Amino acid sequence: MPTTCVTGVLWGDEGKGKIIDLLARDADFVVRYGGGHNAGHTLIWRGERLVLHLVPSGILQERTVNVIGNGVVVDPLHLRDEVARLREHGVTADLGRNLLVSERAPLILPMHQALDRVMEAVRGAGKIGTTGRGIGPAYADRAYRSGLRAGDLLRGVGELRAAVEALIREKEPLFAAHGVPPFDAAAIAEDLAAAGRDLAPAITDTGDLLRNAVRAGRKILFEGAQGVLLDVDLGTYPYVTSSNASPAGVPAGTGIPPTALDKVVGVMKAYATRVGEGPFPTEIPEPEVQRLRDAGNEYGSTTRRPRRCGWFDAVAVRYGVAVSGAAELYMTNLDVLSGFDPLRIAVAYETPAGRTDRFPAFDLDRVRPVWQEVPGFTGDLSGARAFADLPPGARHYVETLERYVGVPIRLVSVGPARDQVIQR
Ligand code: IMP
Repeated sequence: MPTTCVTGVLWGDEGKGKIIDLLARDADFVVRYGGGHNAGHTLIWRGERLVLHLVPSGILQERTVNVIGNGVVVDPLHLRDEVARLREHGVTADLGRNLLVSERAPLILPMHQALDRVMEAVRGAGKIGTTGRGIGPAYADRAYRSGLRAGDLLRGVGELRAAVEALIREKEPLFAAHGVPPFDAAAIAEDLAAAGRDLAPAITDTGDLLRNAVRAGRKILFEGAQGVLLDVDLGTYPYVTSSNASPAGVPAGTGIPPTALDKVVGVMKAYATRVGEGPFPTEIPEPEVQRLRDAGNEYGSTTRRPRRCGWFDAVAVRYGVAVSGAAELYMTNLDVLSGFDPLRIAVAYETPAGRTDRFPAFDLDRVRPVWQEVPGFTGDLSGARAFADLPPGARHYVETLERYVGVPIRLVSVGPARDQVIQR
């Protein structure tokens, strides 16, 4: 399958980084199509933990070209720093060769970050729990048709300054009302121009490049950030991010035709997690949750916020699979569940209107899971490399999930290292 999208089926943090790193070994291109540096993909590189935020996960493969597509909101200062940090770790990040940025990608500017914080404060108790990276406001400026794009970084500092001043003017009343100190348009324009000079070799028409690659039958991996349930249109609105995180975002966010996507792989954990606010039907309450959180080291890779954790939610996973079109699932963190007994699976929801196995668009906070309990398993799974190496209870758990979800689980991950996987 030349073009494949890897997506999280729930709220992100499913361990896609490792899976993409695995699949990228023979990929010609790894392409991000949405989100920004709100994402965090953790990889193990030369025994060290490396977190990628904006740079695609194919960067560790020598011959793979990594593309930040036009659907990604780019903070140019962050991108420059991330590239520098990768180089410090000995990673080859060669702008214009193995790392490219779409000239159409919307920019995140300092005003967007300030606006992200202001909007969260205004929402008060109803806050979304954003990463504070300016993601929503940058996408909003795209929708307003007033934001800048990566290609604008290549303009002179005078033009950039005028554009920045216009953006500041638009938002000034809100900033003034919330005590945000004034912005220095000249300094921002200088910073952008400097970042533009550094990033210039990478900024190009990536859509044209990718369409040619599709026509030539090159192997392209589209790397989802976040997950289906954080998709602005299809997720748990309003507790979502501001892009089409599901594979629906691939064509619009990269410029390939919608007909060019051959396959979708869904990634999920052996249990469920979410960061930020919003309903979470299978959530395990505090303090009981701490045991699973510690076992899985469930702390956000971008913000280090403790993740909320819960039992496997087959209703939500079925929805994520249906929306994404995932033909197969890769499951991470099975080893983490060792020692938990019994294991619980939500197989349907009880709602005020009766039982349902459909994932609702509203009032997700009012559903109660219908549980199926299965016996747990014990032992250290981290050395298993074949399905038969797993304890019978772990095999039974995987097979049970498969039955409830209706899609084969083709790969099971039992630890953070690249080789800690079982292919089925
Ligand atoms: P934003 O994307 O920063 O606007 O945050 C919106 C929601 O998406 C919040 O609940 C965040 O915690 C969540 N979110 C954003 N990026 C990620 C991610 O990479 N993994 C998990 N959750 C994320």
